[in-house]
Amino acid sequence: MNVISLAIWTLEKNCFIVYSGLIVCFIAFTLYHKNKLEEYYSETSKKEKMARTGTGGKARDFQDDGDEDPDLLVPAIPEDTPQIPYSPPQRSDDEILQRSREYYELMAERRTVRSFSPEPIPQEVLDNLIKTAGTSPSGAHTEPWTFIVVQDPEMKSAIREIVEEEEELNYNQRMSRQWVTDLKPFATKPVKPYLSDAPALVLVFRQTHSWREDGKKRMHYYSEISTAIAAGILLAAIQYCGLVALTSTPLNCNARLRDLLSRPLNERLELLLPVGRPHKEATVPDLERKKLEEIMVKI
Ligand SMILES: Cc1cc2nc3c(=O)[nH]c(=O)nc-3n(C[C@H](O)[C@H](O)[C@H](O)COP(=O)(O)O)c2cc1C
Repeated sequence: MNVISLAIWTLEKNCFIVYSGLIVCFIAFTLYHKNKLEEYYSETSKKEKMARTGTGGKARDFQDDGDEDPDLLVPAIPEDTPQIPYSPPQRSDDEILQRSREYYELMAERRTVRSFSPEPIPQEVLDNLIKTAGTSPSGAHTEPWTFIVVQDPEMKSAIREIVEEEEELNYNQRMSRQWVTDLKPFATKPVKPYLSDAPALVLVFRQTHSWREDGKKRMHYYSEISTAIAAGILLAAIQYCGLVALTSTPLNCNARLRDLLSRPLNERLELLLPVGRPHKEATVPDLERKKLEEIMVKI
């Protein structure tokens, strides 16, 4: 009897013990592997949680800049900022209702216009529009916005040149075919005469952070939504005073326009709004807005 035959004969004789041994090994291996996996996942989720929350357990959206010594922390605006009385006019329910209707009707008339009359806008109107945008709420009153108002024809041409160059690439190479197709009803194209026709271009920059008088970096909390709200208030003011705007987001133009306008690196271009009166032959797509029931959930 050779070695192989002997091994087979032994296995056959002791098959119960061999199979039991194999089953025990299988169960032991499965349990070991399961424990290892659990250990790995718990370690990973601990690391993710630490990254999200810092050292404590409380969720943090913002990381501090390393200055963790509480004795050195000073609020960006004085801690003893006084509280002052605030008593806007008290209005009756009827008056509130009336005003809510009137404001809705006014805002429902707002449309994005893509052809402008070159008629200039008085400087004071532009000042008031930007002052109004500056009344916007902002995270911890950081006011993380800069509004660049361009009326100079040469600067408008330079802006147009950059935007058109980038848009040519956006439309032909960078944007998805679906995106370009979705834009067809709006007849938008790389050529943008409104950038030189509109009497004013308002470029809305978001400040990611700023600098305090003591030289420390000032954190800007919720700068995106704060700047978006300010832009919304600006659009409402433009509508209220009887002008029109084109809400545009010049894709991939941030760095070039920031350089052209000599803006610092902590500012990011969010919107470019040509503002003025509509061209007398201006048209807009006949769009429908969602109904109240579609956008409001009453609980
Ligand atoms: C964030 C944002 C980006 C937009 N970007 C552009 C743009 O780059 N070019 C353009 O012609 N319109 C742009 N629009 C305008 C929209 O196409 C327009 O608001 C939409 O079609 C609804 O039309 P209405 O504003 O007349 O109600 C933008 C609007 C928003 C809110």
